[in-house]
Amino acid sequence: MFYNPDNRPSSLPHDPFKAIVSPRPIGWISTIDKEGRANLAPYSFFNAIGDKPPMVIFSKTGPKLGVNEEKDSIRNIRETGEFVVNFVSFELTSEMNISSQHFKHGEDEFSLAGLEKGRSQIVGVPYVKKAPAAFECVLHKELKLPGDDQTAIIGEVKGIHINEEYIRDGIFDVTLYKPLARLGYRDYAVIENLISLKRPDD
Ligand SMILES: Cc1cc2nc3c(=O)[nH]c(=O)nc-3n(C[C@H](O)[C@H](O)[C@H](O)COP(=O)(O)O)c2cc1C
Repeated sequence: MFYNPDNRPSSLPHDPFKAIVSPRPIGWISTIDKEGRANLAPYSFFNAIGDKPPMVIFSKTGPKLGVNEEKDSIRNIRETGEFVVNFVSFELTSEMNISSQHFKHGEDEFSLAGLEKGRSQIVGVPYVKKAPAAFECVLHKELKLPGDDQTAIIGEVKGIHINEEYIRDGIFDVTLYKPLARLGYRDYAVIENLISLKRPDD
């Protein structure tokens, strides 16, 4: 099968694009507005794109549902130039999902999801205290993408929090917290089993 994304065959009634690009890590983005009110929302068009210095990207792919309003994460980052990427353990699945709802600007998803805030060291934005890890980021660049309402945020990671209960023998052991990853449709994956591979030229 081959198709042009503007002309998906009727045998695929639901867009498989995100199922193809899967699993995707979830960047659980915290921000504050210029009044200092906190916001938290998951973005699975998210990844790391460099490590010297560490860089991350996430993108917004449409407006808030039902209202012609900019998503709070983007609006706040434009206002402050800062954000935090929190990582989602299996244990935090429900809180992450609650925080994806389209609340009014200024409503604090930390409180709505019953999450404690941690105090960041470099940026003014709180992090999710229970998260296995969190990156304090400053805006590097906003990149408008083709389409009506798509934009990508590139950030430079300035500080890294790790919950030490997930460090074993000097390794940040993902099997201890089980990362939640986004697939297509309504599906998620939980990372529990690892395989290790040596590169041929190692
Ligand atoms: C697992 C998950 C991943 C999501 N990924 C994205 C994404 O990559 N881009 C996007 O624009 N919205 C994404 N959403 C929807 C946003 O989380 C949702 O629009 C949210 O209300 C935005 O919040 P904000 O206005 O506080 O930024 C995702 C939702 C979930 C549950």
